[in-house]
Amino acid sequence: MGVEVRTEGVTKSFGSQRIWQDVSLTLPSGEVSALLGPSGTGKSVFLKSLIGLLRPERGSIFIDGVDITTCSNKQLYEIRKLFGVLFQDGALFGSMNLFDNVAFPLREHTKKSESEIRQIVMEKLELTGLIGAEGKLPGEISGGMRKRAGLARALVLDPQIILVDEPDSGLDPVRTSYLSQLLIDINAQIDATILIVTHNINLARSVPDNIGMLFRRQLVMFGPREVLLTSEEPVVKQFLNGRMIGPIGMSEEKDETQMAREQALVDAGHHHGGAEEVEGIIPQMRATPGMPVRQGVLRRQERVREIMHTLPHAAQAAIRESLDQSDDTQVMAYSTADTEKFRAQSYDTTVHQSRTDG
Ligand SMILES: Nc1ncnc2c1ncn2[C@@H]1O[C@H](COP(=O)(O)OP(=O)(O)OP(=O)(O)O)[C@@H](O)[C@H]1O
Ligand SMILES: [Mg+2]
Repeated sequence: MGVEVRTEGVTKSFGSQRIWQDVSLTLPSGEVSALLGPSGTGKSVFLKSLIGLLRPERGSIFIDGVDITTCSNKQLYEIRKLFGVLFQDGALFGSMNLFDNVAFPLREHTKKSESEIRQIVMEKLELTGLIGAEGKLPGEISGGMRKRAGLARALVLDPQIILVDEPDSGLDPVRTSYLSQLLIDINAQIDATILIVTHNINLARSVPDNIGMLFRRQLVMFGPREVLLTSEEPVVKQFLNGRMIGPIGMSEEKDETQMAREQALVDAGHHHGGAEEVEGIIPQMRATPGMPVRQGVLRRQERVREIMHTLPHAAQAAIRESLDQSDDTQVMAYSTADTEKFRAQSYDTTVHQSRTDG
């Protein structure tokens, strides 16, 4: 089972620029969480703080119970081995082909033989649909392929915590869905704790068990997906619907005058930029048939039952509904017959298609 990640009152500044303050949250072990927030709110800085690449000036970050803001360098080195990280830019070594890029953590951190390494690397390249591209340099492949190579590399050490920074950026909507499915399937297979930083609203609505949002130097909320997805908070609603109308502006936060001006424009018939008004909750993606049942989903059910009374009414209602339906949606494995049928008919094509890249 993946390990728990907990932050307590963490605050980060660069010089006089405060990025965020008093961020306290728990990524429950083995669950999938997502962190949303407008560009520049410090999501990537938060990810880097979780692995100790950046040091907050206040607060604690507990990884599996160890506070990495105070532990020794040696301990931090050991803790880092628990992580698989996909950085926003992929962070591949430009002069190494994909095979060597993906093999790098294994050569660096383990004493495995080259034949063992080859087996693991090819397995991860297969998982991310990159078989055939292993000899290519990062500069010779598409942006989407680079992302997936970064993900393959993040997986080679069988991490207990997986951090992915905008896995969908540079991917088309179909590839994004395949990638979402891949993240859910990886979670089902290795029960790792996953944090996805994303701007992608479809992904945020359909993938994570828990969602949080950073805005104006604060963690606006963090909790079970139902809380954010039913929230009436203006900044959350604006973000989920991608509209210009609301507190989020192009650069800094907006003032009242600008908000009134924009509202008047929209009232007069000007487009607010959002493609659709989506309200409420859509079903969560499930692991592909044939995968193990996601243990994180089972544990989460217990957890949300316990904290239910502390949540807003709309979230409680949504959770109750999902618990009622859980027998035939999230938790129950597909029947063996269904699984066999699905495997025979479409799983091969799915894997094959995700491999023929763009
Ligand atoms: N190493 C650094 N030194 C100084 N400032 C930094 C550093 N890294 C990030 N920042 C600043 O911190 C702020 C938050 O940056 P960050 O990259 O975390 O935003 P983000 O939420 O990930 O944005 P995006 O959605 O565009 O990726 C920015 O103002 C950025 O300039
Ligand atoms: Mg970022």
